[in-house]
Amino acid sequence: MKILVTAGPTREHLDPVRFLSNRSTGKMGFAVAAAAVAAGHEAVLVAGPVSLDTPEGVRRIDVVSARDMLAAVESELSEADVLVMCAAVADWRPKTEAALKLKKGTMAPVLELEPNPDILRTIAPRKGGRIFVGFAAETGDPVPEAARKLAAKGLDMVVANDVSAPDSGFAVDTNRVTFVRPGGRRTYLPLLTKAEVAARLVAAVEEIAARSQPK
Ligand code: CTP
Repeated sequence: MKILVTAGPTREHLDPVRFLSNRSTGKMGFAVAAAAVAAGHEAVLVAGPVSLDTPEGVRRIDVVSARDMLAAVESELSEADVLVMCAAVADWRPKTEAALKLKKGTMAPVLELEPNPDILRTIAPRKGGRIFVGFAAETGDPVPEAARKLAAKGLDMVVANDVSAPDSGFAVDTNRVTFVRPGGRRTYLPLLTKAEVAARLVAAVEEIAARSQPK
């Protein structure tokens, strides 16, 4: 299969030196792309700004903002059988982006924002027989939110990710996740390395593919 993976944060600039972003480091998405290749699939990685080496055998497209990421996903989607949206896409961006660095004296104390496109919702009409997997990174119990996002975004699986524990979520090499599938199916995984979570995720995608129609 050809597996398209997004990873990392997006950056939403307000001028050339300042931006809104989040704590994502891209480790989970890079691990998914590596696991896809290790399992014999083709992997394309759309990466926000992260400082990670490209896994062996993976084609990488670097992007900065949510709108860049959407454009890259839109152009790669027709070739893909699977999309795994690991990226922590910024939901909002500054309403204006200055071409030159803003000077303290001219900056207002209130930042005006506007919403970014939701990538999964935007491309939902093009899903067809493709398998779409999302992530739900939450600071409370992630499973109910993951189930809500599964239904709201019409996904085949959501990886519920507790990002409040120090050994799980952003920037660390381990993760504690639950796979949430339609019909109330849940797979609770123990604390694992991100490489192990990624291998289990790829296996779960293979299982979904085995039971569904081709795109
Ligand atoms: N996502 C996306 N486009 C966005 C925001 C999120 O495609 N603009 C994707 C993420 O990559 C993830 C899933 O949607 O796979 C859930 O993202 P999350 O940020 O948890 O959910 P939101 O829809 O932003 O909801 P909320 O902020 O209410 O938690």
